[in-house]
Amino acid sequence: MKSLFPILTLVSLSRLALAANFTLLRDSSGNGFFDDWTFYGNYDNTTSGDVNYVNQAQSTNLAFVNSAGRAIIKVDNTSFVPYNQKRNSVRIGSKDYYTFGSVWVFDIAHIPYGCSVWPSVWSSAFIWPDQGEIDIVEGINKMTANQMALHASAGCNAATGTNAINQPSITNCNATSKSGCTVPEKQPNSYGESFASAGGGVWATQFDVSGIYIWFWSRANVPKSITTATNSIDISSWGNPSAAFPSSSCNIPQIFGPQQLIVDITLCGAWAGMSSLFGPSCAPSGNQTDPNLCYITDVINNGTSDYATAYFEFNSIRTYGVNTSVLVSFDGTPESGSNSSTGSSSGSSSSSGTSNSSGASSGSTQGSSARVNLMVTPRGLYAGMAAATFLSWLVL
Ligand SMILES: *[C@@H]1O[C@H](CO)[C@@H](O)[C@H](O)[C@H]1NC(C)=O
Ligand SMILES: *[C@@H]1O[C@H](CO)[C@@H](O)[C@H](O)[C@H]1NC(C)=O
Ligand SMILES: *[C@@H]1O[C@H](CO)[C@@H](O)[C@H](O)[C@H]1NC(C)=O
Ligand SMILES: *[C@@H]1O[C@H](CO)[C@@H](O)[C@H](O)[C@H]1NC(C)=O
Ligand SMILES: *[C@@H]1O[C@H](CO)[C@@H](O)[C@H](O)[C@H]1NC(C)=O
Ligand SMILES: *[C@@H]1O[C@H](CO)[C@@H](O)[C@H](O)[C@H]1NC(C)=O
Ligand SMILES: *[C@@H]1O[C@H](CO)[C@@H](O)[C@H](O)[C@H]1NC(C)=O
Ligand SMILES: *[C@@H]1O[C@H](CO)[C@@H](O)[C@H](O)[C@H]1NC(C)=O
Ligand SMILES: *[C@@H]1O[C@H](CO)[C@@H](O)[C@H](O)[C@H]1NC(C)=O
Repeated sequence: MKSLFPILTLVSLSRLALAANFTLLRDSSGNGFFDDWTFYGNYDNTTSGDVNYVNQAQSTNLAFVNSAGRAIIKVDNTSFVPYNQKRNSVRIGSKDYYTFGSVWVFDIAHIPYGCSVWPSVWSSAFIWPDQGEIDIVEGINKMTANQMALHASAGCNAATGTNAINQPSITNCNATSKSGCTVPEKQPNSYGESFASAGGGVWATQFDVSGIYIWFWSRANVPKSITTATNSIDISSWGNPSAAFPSSSCNIPQIFGPQQLIVDITLCGAWAGMSSLFGPSCAPSGNQTDPNLCYITDVINNGTSDYATAYFEFNSIRTYGVNTSVLVSFDGTPESGSNSSTGSSSGSSSSSGTSNSSGASSGSTQGSSARVNLMVTPRGLYAGMAAATFLSWLVL
């Protein structure tokens, strides 16, 4: 039992599962979009991508609010990058971690896409992968549909036959067995050019003791309860989710820990950069066995012209909860006071190394990969392997 939530009794847990009305906790939109986020400020040391994630001081031209009041998060597409160096990009993580009873709503106008580009909107526990990762928006290269997934510890499976719109293509969520449980999106316009030309869309994730549920709506279908939400949001009319990971097949309250929200764009790396995936769709005349094929084709020199579409444009990211107690520090302890907009940055970076020994002891996988600084960390490796299984339809 790794639960970090001794305060929650079974009785209160079942009440949480029934709540349909959630209070606004964080509103990342407009000029203050980046206030509740921290910048990673390190090269991509989790998925082996060929990027340096800038710190806040370097972020001016890559993470900003545009004149339309939308947040842009993008790959540097103007610098000349000499061979052996990495291109600048952005990874931000929420200052808050979220426990059960929370709902995260991402309203997005444009998702990065194109050869070598690997964007992700996801969440991760501090103790990774044991306490879970939720991949909400993720794709690579010329994929045309979003892919959702969980990565967690042994015994976590994605249920089949739920009322969700999409069913899992891999059901084993055990990250240590090198495969997350993936759910490909079959609704139209969930990724790439078609997502953008449809005006974008909204993803909502409910992190609940009864399970993890992800909804996706293309712009025209976004429900009124989202477009008209003010200080609270009613999710009762959302209908069947796009993906459902009910606790009946993965004991969510026992396995999953508090989640940090993350948005990043990497290039190449353990998934997009696999020459067997990148080559056929993005460099058919290149040397298909060269592990650097993605890097040398797209990243270096002036970069590919595809980087003109390698940007996120967010209308907003809003988080809601049954109450403010769902906002916690990285280790699940309550944030100081109910107002956590300050003083929470010590736990803000998902791998900041501030975990005390009790955390590290139950996170042996993370601990060992951090120490030996693996070239390919589990997250990237597993994502890549899951992708390879579905090569035939993923990368067209
Ligand atoms: C949801 O909460 C808001 C604000 O507290 C309240 O005005 C509204 O009536 C609630 N709606 C439901 C369906 O409980
Ligand atoms: C999870 O992965 C570990 C490591 O590969 C393996 O020993 C274990 O049997 C797996 N468990 C399940 C339920 O898949
Ligand atoms: C292709 O790349 C591999 C790995 O870098 C290399 O060993 C091989 O010589 C290359 N082949 C050609 C034809 O350049
Ligand atoms: C990079 O772009 C500059 C300006 O357009 C151009 O002069 C230069 O030749 C380009 N370099 C490479 C290696 O493509
Ligand atoms: C760089 O990307 C932006 C979009 O983020 C695009 O408007 C611009 O044309 C691109 N510049 C170059 C030199 O490709
Ligand atoms: C938050 O909601 C939970 C579940 O309803 C409840 O157990 C807890 O006491 C509430 N906390 C506060 C600070 O209101
Ligand atoms: C938190 O405190 C700040 C600064 O005092 C204030 O602006 C903000 O409204 C507070 N937020 C909440 C949720 O109480
Ligand atoms: C990655 O970089 C961050 C920031 O410097 C660091 O805290 C973390 O320990 C590193 N993680 C790995 C797996 O090397
Ligand atoms: C780590 O945190 C736990 C829970 O807050 C605490 O009980 C323990 O004493 C801490 N250990 C160290 C070495 O600080």
